[in-house]
Amino acid sequence: MRLTIRSGSPTTEACDALIVLAAEDKGLSGPAASVDTAAHGALATVLALGDFDGKAKSTRLVHVGDGLRAQRVLLVGTGGGGDSAESGRLAGGAAIQGVSGMTIRTAVVVLPERADATFVQGLTEGLALASYRFDRHRTTEETETAVESVALLAATDEDARALQAALDRGVILGDATGLARDLVNEPPNHLTPTALADRAVEVAGTHRLRSRVLGPAELADQGFGALLGVAQGSAEEPRFIVLEHAGEDAGAAPLVLVGKGLTFDSGGLSIKTGKGMEDMKIDMGGAAAVLGAMRAIGRLDCRQRVVGLIPATENMTGPRAQRPGDVVRSYGGVTIEVLNTDAEGRLVLSDALGYAATMKPAAVVDAATLTGAVIAALGHHAAALLGTDERLMRAIEAASAATGERVWRLPLWDVYDEPLKSKVADIKNIGDGGAGTIIGAAFLKRFASYPWAHLDIAGTAWDVKDVSYHPSRATGYGARLFAELAANWNGGAKDSAS
Ligand code: BES
Ligand code: MN
Ligand code: ZN
Repeated sequence: MRLTIRSGSPTTEACDALIVLAAEDKGLSGPAASVDTAAHGALATVLALGDFDGKAKSTRLVHVGDGLRAQRVLLVGTGGGGDSAESGRLAGGAAIQGVSGMTIRTAVVVLPERADATFVQGLTEGLALASYRFDRHRTTEETETAVESVALLAATDEDARALQAALDRGVILGDATGLARDLVNEPPNHLTPTALADRAVEVAGTHRLRSRVLGPAELADQGFGALLGVAQGSAEEPRFIVLEHAGEDAGAAPLVLVGKGLTFDSGGLSIKTGKGMEDMKIDMGGAAAVLGAMRAIGRLDCRQRVVGLIPATENMTGPRAQRPGDVVRSYGGVTIEVLNTDAEGRLVLSDALGYAATMKPAAVVDAATLTGAVIAALGHHAAALLGTDERLMRAIEAASAATGERVWRLPLWDVYDEPLKSKVADIKNIGDGGAGTIIGAAFLKRFASYPWAHLDIAGTAWDVKDVSYHPSRATGYGARLFAELAANWNGGAKDSAS
């Protein structure tokens, strides 16, 4: 879908649908009022009759006859929450939902008076995110007509020019989330670890990122014992993917983004149930967030040096599969007793976190679909945030507030290290059954010798219901959050903690 911004008069716009935004209980003002006047008061009548109240998520399609050149008007409620980025996102999502399923190809959104950059960026993201479809594996005709273009209409040329950057940013961030969704939605026989690495290299090539991919031989040479242990039950080769955005100073201490890249998680010999395995193609949601973000970071040409690390493998039950009881040696030398082969995410991440230390990072953040327990705690609405560095966690919370991708903190006190003590190795990969999400993070903490934070995205990566801009099962969670974090990151500076 093409998204543009320009100036013009809504009453003379020829398009399949004119989209008019209205806040709750505010009536029609500015350009919306002039649309109403040209439409002989048809919109005001709809409001007066109570057929549309401007509440968030509400829409009403109105056929106005000859007063306008547009065929239809879609009223979209923006609620009472003001003009935040999130109200823009939700309205953009509702607008796309409202024009879907009809023969609408071109739409024009009438921007409210004094729409600011934050709202316009959010609106753009919402329009882009809601028009996402994953249909590349369908061979039958889609019955739904897809909207081909949406133009945002500002009152003056000057306004349109001032808001162009906000639209461009919204498009780039929408694309980042779209890439992440594509990767998560892709079936696991198509998106193998090798295919994921190929996609990463392709993204790097088109967005001025450096890339490096390690295969089994290099992984063995360099001591990625935990990743190799998980991979050895699969016929698919593992990959370790490194992407790098140089920024203004390629020698600066980087911000490192790490994403769990399990292209399928059967549980291994500690096998999952059939039902529990059904959706396990989503187990590379963290990797997808990193890849989506790295593309946006390249396109936005962020000032900071940013590195993306993705340990990619399947977790399968082949004849060489690792056994409960095996001891593996992680990158950097820590030994791990693998008591449950289904706690594999933390194993592959231990290698990635160990490897990250060699880059002398300013900070490291990982995103991982790590535990089912996070869904019990927070549902699909928020990722769990845990870590060792207050400044980094505040930066993540600030990014989260901007992108609408919710995070919520869980504690990481030392008492949670206790259940991970092993009788035979330095650490074991499961605890005693309680506090699953925290124990997962406590395990990772052992490998993080620098400012570090962890996002458990097992809930937020997929299956978010009733959000207008999440049309597919995969949400692409984390791509925008990571891009926003990187864009605002100020290196190793200690002066802005507040
Ligand atoms: N990939 C799963 C976590 C998961 C579960 C993601 C449900 C999305 C939906 C992870 O590898 C896993 O299996 N975790 C185990 C950990 C346990 C064995 C300590 C879990 O959550 O049960
Ligand atoms: Mn697992
Ligand atoms: Zn997993």
